[in-house]
Amino acid sequence: MKLALIGYGYAGRALARLLRHKREEFPFLVTGIHTLRHGTAVAPEGLPDDPPFGPPFGPRAASVEEFLDAARADIAVELTTLNPATGEPAISHIRAAFARRMHVATANKGPIAHAYAELRDEAARAGVGFRFESAVMDGAPVFNLWHHNLPGVQVLGFTGVLNSTSKVVVEALERGGSFEDGLKAARAMGITEGDGAFDVEGWDSAAKTAALANVLMDARTTPQQVSTRGIVKLTPERVAEIARRGKTVRLISRARRTGGRVSLRVRAEVLDRCDILAATPGTSNLILFHTDLMGTFGTVSIEPTVEQTAYGVFSDLVNLTRRSG
Ligand SMILES: NC(=O)c1ccc[n+]([C@@H]2O[C@H](COP(=O)([O-])OP(=O)(O)OC[C@H]3O[C@@H](n4cnc5c(N)ncnc54)[C@H](OP(=O)(O)O)[C@@H]3O)[C@@H](O)[C@H]2O)c1
Repeated sequence: MKLALIGYGYAGRALARLLRHKREEFPFLVTGIHTLRHGTAVAPEGLPDDPPFGPPFGPRAASVEEFLDAARADIAVELTTLNPATGEPAISHIRAAFARRMHVATANKGPIAHAYAELRDEAARAGVGFRFESAVMDGAPVFNLWHHNLPGVQVLGFTGVLNSTSKVVVEALERGGSFEDGLKAARAMGITEGDGAFDVEGWDSAAKTAALANVLMDARTTPQQVSTRGIVKLTPERVAEIARRGKTVRLISRARRTGGRVSLRVRAEVLDRCDILAATPGTSNLILFHTDLMGTFGTVSIEPTVEQTAYGVFSDLVNLTRRSG
């Protein structure tokens, strides 16, 4: 299967490393890479590892459409920067791939949070697959778990600890540091989107909550429609007082189906330290699904890195070659 990579930053380069590592067993061929500032590299017979941008593999494509036409791939891999407000231009990139009868795999939660139902239907009309495992909780099975393993089970709601930066900030406050110390630590770990404001104001969690609800509960919502409050009002004094009571704070995403409605919210919640939602360390993520036939069960990812993001995309690529969806 031939791959066209749109975006080649941390996630794209980690995916390229993984593809190299697994090449014998899974012989994917990268025929094109397109970026915003670095340029374009295309070779329909397959690019070398770490190709230079520009000659002999350039010039820069004038548009994603032009790039996809030149790369002649089977799967477009969308790994561009998240735009939390609209999901663009990733949504347009995905549509351009569908219009060329290409499957799509993405780690970008923007399109799933803003336009999942439309994109799912467009993929079905084009007869191609659309996969996005790494959009929430990196490669830990969330979407593919539901896709493959739980026939007939209805999601009634979910509860998640989905944002790492806010947890790192709370842990810094608990150690007696400042809010800015926590943000600095999160930035040094490379886990923030942008300057970290997006994370601590709750918007990263809102985007993940909307994406999950769109896919698992057919909510047809957007991040702006999630009732969201972040952790920005937390002070060291307040956290110390909570800690004296044996409790801690986590930014929690909650979804619940009530009647015909899906209600979604993100809040900083005070939890017992032994609460399962408080128990995971550092950058770990956790989600619990509340269901009709399977009760409550969940997925945990302990301290994931960009290598797990790459694995989620890789698992999508393998699933697309098997065309199970
Ligand atoms: N990193 C992670 O651990 C992680 C985890 C889960 C999900 N994700 C998601 O994966 C995606 C990529 O993340 P990342 O960390 O790899 O980001 P990144 O390092 O900032 O890389 C983004 C890439 O997208 C390219 N790009 C941006 N706008 C573009 C456009 N309009 N057309 C073509 N290329 C464009 C950039 O080009 P230039 O190189 O020329 O600037 C760059 O190569 C994001 O949506 C992110 O939310 C990442």
